[in-house]
Amino acid sequence: MPHTVTAAEVAAKKPSGIVLSGGPSSVYEEGAPQLDEGIFELGVPVLGICYGFQVMATALGGEVAHTGAREYGSTAVRISESGVLLDGQPEEQTAWMSHGDSVSRAPEGFEVLASTDSTPVAAFANDERKLYGVQWHPEVKHSAYGQAVLENFLHRAAGIPADWNSGNVIADQVAAIQAQVGSGRVICALSGGVDSAVAAALVHKAVGDQLVCVFVDHGLLRKDERRQVEEDYVKATGVRLVTIDAEKQFLDALAGVSDPETKRKIIGREFIRTFEQAQADLITEAASEGDPIRFLVQGTLYPDVVESGGGTGTANIKSHHNVGGLPEDLQFELVEPLRTLFKDEVRAIGRELGLPEAIVGRQPFPGPGLGIRIVGEVTHERLELLRDADAIVRAELSEAGLDGEIWQCPVVLLADVRSVGVQGDGRTYGHPIVLRPVSSEDAMTADWTRLPYELLAKISNRITNEVDGVNRVVLDVTSKPPGTIEWE
Ligand code: XMP
Repeated sequence: MPHTVTAAEVAAKKPSGIVLSGGPSSVYEEGAPQLDEGIFELGVPVLGICYGFQVMATALGGEVAHTGAREYGSTAVRISESGVLLDGQPEEQTAWMSHGDSVSRAPEGFEVLASTDSTPVAAFANDERKLYGVQWHPEVKHSAYGQAVLENFLHRAAGIPADWNSGNVIADQVAAIQAQVGSGRVICALSGGVDSAVAAALVHKAVGDQLVCVFVDHGLLRKDERRQVEEDYVKATGVRLVTIDAEKQFLDALAGVSDPETKRKIIGREFIRTFEQAQADLITEAASEGDPIRFLVQGTLYPDVVESGGGTGTANIKSHHNVGGLPEDLQFELVEPLRTLFKDEVRAIGRELGLPEAIVGRQPFPGPGLGIRIVGEVTHERLELLRDADAIVRAELSEAGLDGEIWQCPVVLLADVRSVGVQGDGRTYGHPIVLRPVSSEDAMTADWTRLPYELLAKISNRITNEVDGVNRVVLDVTSKPPGTIEWE
């Protein structure tokens, strides 16, 4: 619910527990999200996280200060009191922080549970009132005991049982899709990635042949990707597939554009336009059936929704093309069966649905494709160059047996940057290629993967020798935050 909800509205929902999420604001900023303080009087357990923790501190009479000491990334936390929330946890642990302000004094009646070098109050609790807060982000993988914090809050403080499983989600989604779609016809944007593959398989399970999958070759795909979709996926699922060649349309629309958000919006817009054309063609073709296609399946995941500013008070970090880039005049009603799920949950559902491991385990690839991995204008020649470099990286990572260890490895072409090199006997003036191997659980946070030096050396040698126009390979050693996974 948005932070503007009233205590009465919350009470009407009869919640078992309330989590106040993190957010990008400072509590002192003008217009910073506040909440109805009556929420703390409902007798419902509350857990405040990061910004939610700070709002809670100020609302209940504690203090938040601009200490000037910012904490971003993995931070050492010392637990002084466990209470219910931190029960069973080691006294020293690492947790993921992302904040500028800090709680300097806990509200009266609250016990301080933890601190860090620069934050005296990193967690607090009032066990009697069942009000809890942590400065770190327990919901991300890099908080070593984050899951345990959430479990203690949900099971022990709020009394909620753990009954999520992929079978329940499939049954719920199939029923929801059937209710939304009825006997209507559905078109699915198949990208070749795990999200759209699982979304399409779910919809196929729900409405069978009412679904037709359309695969747009927008020219921004990786090497060999089209064949993989046309052969492997179709063989595995038996869905009807139509492939559309749209490279020229996309590249014409992208000509002269370097701004990342503009690129994303253009690609999103052309994507939908292409589908509308496909719809028109399919309807003409099926004129005798006279049944228009009204629904569009999108493999939107929860991180896409959050990062596109889907809630009140969330920051728009990037417009993900399956959310923020949709044109206003969209002619389809969206079906988004994965909208509340994270990647690991989507994979679990794909496996449960019997999709081949090659598809379910595939690295995530952004909807805007290689278009957002070329820093600068997107052209056919640059795409060809990037495709070659990317294919080398993927082949080498697979051969080294590292596919399971990395989340994804974007390969980025810095088309607007050139540097001097020497190759053979001559001077070169070529472009750098950036390797961005990351480890992550859900793409919300990530760390750069420590690939073996020998492997990096091999990749670098192969790219500079085999890809014309590239004379330098560099490694991105930034976590998320502060960097995002993709460069644009
Ligand atoms: P960022 O760069 O935001 O990426 O840290 C998080 C994850 O999302 C993928 N990504 C996208 N996926 N449409 C998508 O379907 C998009 O517009 C998009 N942009 C980024 C990215 O590859 C990473 O897995």
